[in-house]
Amino acid sequence: MIEESVIREVKERLDIVEVIGDFVSLKRSGSSYKALSPFTNEKTPSFFVSPSKQIFKCFSTGKGGDAIEFLKEVEGMTYIDAIKYLGEKYGVEINESTSGYEQNNDKESLLILINKSKDFFIENLKTDEGKNIALTYFNHRNISVDMIKKFELGYSIDKWDSLYKFLIKNQFSDDNIIKAGLILENNNKKYDRFRNRVIFPIHNLSGKTIAFGARILTEDKKQPKYINSPETSLYIKSNILYGLYQSKYEIRKLDNCFLVEGYTDVISLFQIGIENVVASSGTSLTTNQIKLISRYTKNITILFDGDKAGVAASLRGMDLILENDMNVEIVSFPEGDDPDSYSKKVGKDKFQEFIDGNKTDLITFKVNLLQENEDNPVKKSEMIYDIVRSISKIPNSIKRSLFLKEASNSLEINEQALISEMNKLLLGQGNKTVRSNQIIVNNEKESPREDSINSAIDFYERECIRMLVNYGTSDFEVIGLDRKTFIDYFLKEIQDIEFENKNYLKIIEVFKSEYKKDKVIDINYFLSGDFVDIKDDIIDLSSNRYEISKQWKNKFNIHVSEESDSLKKTTYTNILRLKFRLIRKMIKDNLQNLDKSDKHSIDEDVIKLHNKLKSAEVDIAKELGNVTSV
Ligand code: UTP
Ligand code: MN
Repeated sequence: MIEESVIREVKERLDIVEVIGDFVSLKRSGSSYKALSPFTNEKTPSFFVSPSKQIFKCFSTGKGGDAIEFLKEVEGMTYIDAIKYLGEKYGVEINESTSGYEQNNDKESLLILINKSKDFFIENLKTDEGKNIALTYFNHRNISVDMIKKFELGYSIDKWDSLYKFLIKNQFSDDNIIKAGLILENNNKKYDRFRNRVIFPIHNLSGKTIAFGARILTEDKKQPKYINSPETSLYIKSNILYGLYQSKYEIRKLDNCFLVEGYTDVISLFQIGIENVVASSGTSLTTNQIKLISRYTKNITILFDGDKAGVAASLRGMDLILENDMNVEIVSFPEGDDPDSYSKKVGKDKFQEFIDGNKTDLITFKVNLLQENEDNPVKKSEMIYDIVRSISKIPNSIKRSLFLKEASNSLEINEQALISEMNKLLLGQGNKTVRSNQIIVNNEKESPREDSINSAIDFYERECIRMLVNYGTSDFEVIGLDRKTFIDYFLKEIQDIEFENKNYLKIIEVFKSEYKKDKVIDINYFLSGDFVDIKDDIIDLSSNRYEISKQWKNKFNIHVSEESDSLKKTTYTNILRLKFRLIRKMIKDNLQNLDKSDKHSIDEDVIKLHNKLKSAEVDIAKELGNVTSV
């Protein structure tokens, strides 16, 4: 238990900008600071820190709070851990009384013991034995002195009990040494777990050693190549990624995480200057490990040994990545190479080139493997099923439908067959992340990036006005609503939209004022009348549906509705799409307001408006999803 007065002192001394600045690169913006949110993978900063209020707010996720809350959210610290961390940072001595925190103290002393052992292993490198054996080995493996330091590599002496003796001499209890997994017991004789091996300390996110991997120095096939610490209260294998402490900033910076298998792969890549890499330590990836990575990036690139690609394809870890809405790409190395050996052969630039040239998405990767099994029909159908299952794991229905299309093309299998197979899976498994309305594949592509919002707004404004000009006199029924004509329906639907194009506003005004006199006009009304400034627009809009280049469509992710669809649906969706973009623009503008504001606080109104807009966005997106589904 930490005393209340100590906690108060920590809180008084800390500066939230400094605390957060250690984890996120903050930029000054008026009286506050902003950054890309550490909680999501975003392109426009929506993460704000207010020095005057000593709080942070992430508009993308809604998370917010004080410095302690930040440490809890981003670094996964407990409240106590956060106070201790801050105490150390700001020089407040923290005396934890033992009562009620037995467990925590336990961990604390284990941590001290393990870190002392790590120091011992490092010291061993300075002995003659260490120099002759371990340093020679590192040298032979081309591991640099810098890397030995950075990863705190060490050596365990070729004796039965050198570490044990050292720890006893330093007053550690047998009990704790055993708990730490550092000694074993046989016939009442205690001996070191790690002997005559090079030591790879495994770090937690704050850089403390919590376990060890130890590699044999010879090719002795009778002994395991690596011996690892057993799980302890500090070291839960499935929650740890080797190298993450060293790589987390670079992962965030590059917005990508390379995943390799082994300790030496991580170290070799670091050595050539590739620092966004972690290792799963030879096991299949777990959900917790994926969540850990997702704090820093949503993009994982898996680097496989050449000869393991086939086996790897079936790894559940990859589906788990998809399930967690992360993007995964895969690179397999040439037969016989792993990232360690390959990076040593070719160096940084060629290595990076190889990755860029060989990465494929998971589905393509699986499809390629399948093509190698083309002549085995049983295997082939199994693999198709496997591919569909992988796709079904993707929570985002838009992404899912794109992958399904791609798979249907490259497998030359009817897309509808794949869809129904996938829907069966989605429904059958009671998949908790998938709601029934997500099952149907729909056409609406992923929303455009902000820089294209304005172009999209232009486009949909134009589409709406085009509908009005061309179909203004049409009749159609809107079931359940008391609106019988197009014009009536249209004017009501757009009444709260402020068109940005002034000519379009004028056109609407003309329609409106005539409609008030119970008159529905059409193109001819404009052409015969005196409408100099908008005539060109009218002509433009009334000409046949113009061709939008494919490039343009792709660039702005614009959906072009089929006019052969019912008029009602087309009108309705065009208006909805316009509204959708307008809302997104308002969200962006609102955040920019916050940016500019000179107030010494994060404006509550901005937050409220943001939340409102966000929920409107979701509503429209949902509605859009419903009408545009196949
Ligand atoms: P590798 O056999 O690929 O080892 O196993 P490596 O790291 O590339 O080592 P070098 O290059 O031969 O020195 C990959 C990972 O699997 C775990 C280790 O974490 C290793 O880094 N492993 C492997 C074990 O835990 N025990 C073993 O016996 C073998
Ligand atoms: Mn290796």
